[in-house]
Amino acid sequence: MRHLIDPMDLSLKEIGQLLQTGDDIIAHPEKYAQMCRGKKLATLFYEPSTRTRLSFEAAMLELGGSVVGFSSANSSSAAKGESVADTAQVVGCFADIIAMRHPKEGAPAVAAGCSPVPIINAGDGGHQHPTQTLTDLMTIHSLLGRVDNLTVGLCGDLKFGRTVHSLITALSRYSGVRFVLIAPQELQIPAYIQQLLDEKKIPYSKVQGLEAVMPELDILYMTRIQKERFASEEEYLRLKDSYILDTEKMALAKKEMYVLHPLPRVNEISVQVDKDPRAAYFKQVFYGKIVRMALILKLLGLLEEVEPTAEKPAQREELCHSLTCQNPACITTIEQELEQSFRLVNGEYRCIYCEAASSKA
Ligand code: CP
Repeated sequence: MRHLIDPMDLSLKEIGQLLQTGDDIIAHPEKYAQMCRGKKLATLFYEPSTRTRLSFEAAMLELGGSVVGFSSANSSSAAKGESVADTAQVVGCFADIIAMRHPKEGAPAVAAGCSPVPIINAGDGGHQHPTQTLTDLMTIHSLLGRVDNLTVGLCGDLKFGRTVHSLITALSRYSGVRFVLIAPQELQIPAYIQQLLDEKKIPYSKVQGLEAVMPELDILYMTRIQKERFASEEEYLRLKDSYILDTEKMALAKKEMYVLHPLPRVNEISVQVDKDPRAAYFKQVFYGKIVRMALILKLLGLLEEVEPTAEKPAQREELCHSLTCQNPACITTIEQELEQSFRLVNGEYRCIYCEAASSKA
């Protein structure tokens, strides 16, 4: 049984297969219309969503399957204190596949540890959002015909933006990709993402200004400043208007530079930019449904098997249980029954749920 918790859970060949299947679904939707007949998808959303939940549900319906689920923790027995692990085991009795979003980092990994059916991480706190990344890759592949040899600018909240973490992780596996990380110092990428870039010798630069780098970009990935993840409202208010992409800045970019955004947007892209043919964020939503259809087929074993081994980063399976995760957003902070466990990755102990580093006790 396969789960998708992190982009590295899929090999490059498998990601290629999902993109090709996406192309085929667009060209021949009728071939796929009954492929999930009799199958059920459960969407367990403990945190708000418009695109991800509805695109998963639309994807399953367009494959001929059906959907069950909840759209907030308050309407589920989580409100009575039920754990993620118990919920996954219960829902696994009703559904063939589960998409889970949770505000705590590592919650879908906990579910995958005990679920009888495949678990898809539909976003866990500020950690990862691998199906948004499949959406982004499908969009880039469809617009440019390639996902390699790109200069990709990521702008905004690179610290809390889970879509950014998953996209960098995935794109760092393609050749010729260079990143321009555009953010205030306080909102730059977390240490574990920077470490990944350094280890793989992926070229990147960190800058604070957007205008100066516009002419060099093939893709500009705008992100919202994530109000809900800030510990201090004052800090949020200070940083919230750091970047606003407008038509003047778009005039500095290449003719074939596409603007992506995982959405929702607040004010970081002016609505005037929507009319620019390079604004691709609403097309991106369409591709999200398509690639989620391909993913559901893949995890239900309905696509041909291709080389499944993912290239996980070099790590020794030396688990340490004597540490306590210090990340206030980790699932272990609300589920005290979970065993604390740390994996040794390149000389550093990292929580197996949220990947936060810890110094040895
Ligand atoms: N991109 C994304 O995750 O959107 P939602 O929060 O609306 O699902």
